[in-house]
Amino acid sequence: MKAIEIRNKYLNFFKNHNHKIIPSAPLIPENDPSVLFTTAGMQPLVPYLLGEKHPEGKRLADFQKCLRTVDIDEVGDNRHLTYFEMLGNWSLGDYFKDESIHMSFEFLTKELQIPVEKLFVTCFAGDEDCAKDEVSANIWKEVGITEDHIYYYGKEDNWWIAGEEGPCGPDTEIFYDTGKPACSADCQPSCDCGKYVEIWNNVFMEFFKEKDGTYRKLEQKNVDTGLGLERMAMLLQGKETPFDTEIFEPIMKKLQELQKIDNIQSRRIVAEHLRSSMMIIADGGRPSNIDRGYVLRRLIRRMIRHLNKLQIDLVNLEELIKLNIDNLKEMYPELEKNKETIISVIIEEKEKFVKTLAHGEKEFEKEMKKMHQEGKKEIDGKVVFKLYDTYGFPPEVTKELASENGMTIDQKGFDELFKKHQEKSRLGSEQKFKGGLADQNEKTISYHTATHLLHQALREVLGDHVKQCGSNITEERLRFDFTHPQKMTKEEIQKVEDLVNEQIKKDLKVTCEEMSYEDAKKTGAIGLFTDKYGDRVKVYTIGDFSKEICGGPHVTHTGDMGTFKIKKEESSSSGVRRIKAVLIK
Ligand code: SER
Repeated sequence: MKAIEIRNKYLNFFKNHNHKIIPSAPLIPENDPSVLFTTAGMQPLVPYLLGEKHPEGKRLADFQKCLRTVDIDEVGDNRHLTYFEMLGNWSLGDYFKDESIHMSFEFLTKELQIPVEKLFVTCFAGDEDCAKDEVSANIWKEVGITEDHIYYYGKEDNWWIAGEEGPCGPDTEIFYDTGKPACSADCQPSCDCGKYVEIWNNVFMEFFKEKDGTYRKLEQKNVDTGLGLERMAMLLQGKETPFDTEIFEPIMKKLQELQKIDNIQSRRIVAEHLRSSMMIIADGGRPSNIDRGYVLRRLIRRMIRHLNKLQIDLVNLEELIKLNIDNLKEMYPELEKNKETIISVIIEEKEKFVKTLAHGEKEFEKEMKKMHQEGKKEIDGKVVFKLYDTYGFPPEVTKELASENGMTIDQKGFDELFKKHQEKSRLGSEQKFKGGLADQNEKTISYHTATHLLHQALREVLGDHVKQCGSNITEERLRFDFTHPQKMTKEEIQKVEDLVNEQIKKDLKVTCEEMSYEDAKKTGAIGLFTDKYGDRVKVYTIGDFSKEICGGPHVTHTGDMGTFKIKKEESSSSGVRRIKAVLIK
């Protein structure tokens, strides 16, 4: 079964079980600078897991585009991916363990026709925070999983939380037995020898972990499940790796045709990183030296390095991108829609990188000279790391170049620095994720409301052609991109500022109403892109000044927001202007 068929079956199944199908949130979380990328289906749903009412109701399902960068350096083996698609279903204070497990079992055994003996499950073993999950185990037995296929593990395996703080709970994980021989007498689902593959995680989210490490019960008992699409496709197709499925096969084949040197890891890295880069770019990401942009930059550069390693001429890059878009456009129409942008962003980054590599080689030559003078034969770990970190030189390239010069490299020194760097970036992304869950504070909420006021003020001053193209909020400022053909004049900027400040001074009431998307449009509410919304939406109204479709949150009254000041008005891209503005208290 192809991945897209699995996705459709899943969504249909949950629709038939009274779930509303909601659209995938973008890979780049909106209005949330504290999170790098969407890493799980539950991430955009955190406010609703905490008790806020979701406009579509209490039973939801979707496919969510996800990107996890922690394992970026593992890509190339037979299982790690950075980009993946997660199928998920949620109960927001509606059904709990019984219905959730029954539905998962029915979907796997009836819809996907997986023989029950291939399924193994794990449940929470219990500790001082939460009892042993015998309830789930009993339900599993009831549906037909035999006792010898049920295992209990502690928090390290059967407890799910994003980061350190937030909604969480015990989970029950479903594993697929590939039929490979056991690696040892003790081989069991928790073993990662490859015999058992985790396919679905049902989290029973009824706790909240506080900053101080204590757990409190949430007001509602939720279910949060996640099923990895690529893995499921691989298993159902009897393939060894996701790279052997139709998602990657055409590009893998093409790379094999073009390569002059055979290297399966490199082919996988190119195929995987190309897909992730395309998905990020389609959702608005661009390469840069920080945060999200840096991840994209690393993905593209690593891909180029491995194309070089395969000795594939970089003139083929455009053809490879086009081939991949063609292959994936049915699953992700946004790739076809953004085709030209995807091609130009990747090609431009390639050109920059080719120059960087040339600089790196020069740097390497310099180091060589120095070492010759000092009579050294081994390149210091620090130098190897600098070449890696600053010039994108993988240590194996440095090693190769070194050996051509009759030298060796201090691999151990490099590994130590690399490990430290990895820990730092892992901590960084956990931090970012954690922040994203909790960080809707007074400041960011005010900026969010200010963004609506600004949007409407721009339309009044410049005209109705003004449409939001992007927005980004930090605790310090808002950034707003909108369509407008030319630079704003000083007078226009002043007028917009004044108009926003007038609304703040009026202390307008902010109200929120839920309605169907169609009704929202009829009320004249402005909003973003049409295909982003589900059937039911929230409309935020600010006095009689602004009406906009939005997920919130917002201030209740505009009075306390502070004074609005536009700090910068500049070009963002062709036909798009960018405003940076602050609220001064
Ligand atoms: N949040 C859980 C996970 O990511 C289930 O969706 O595994």
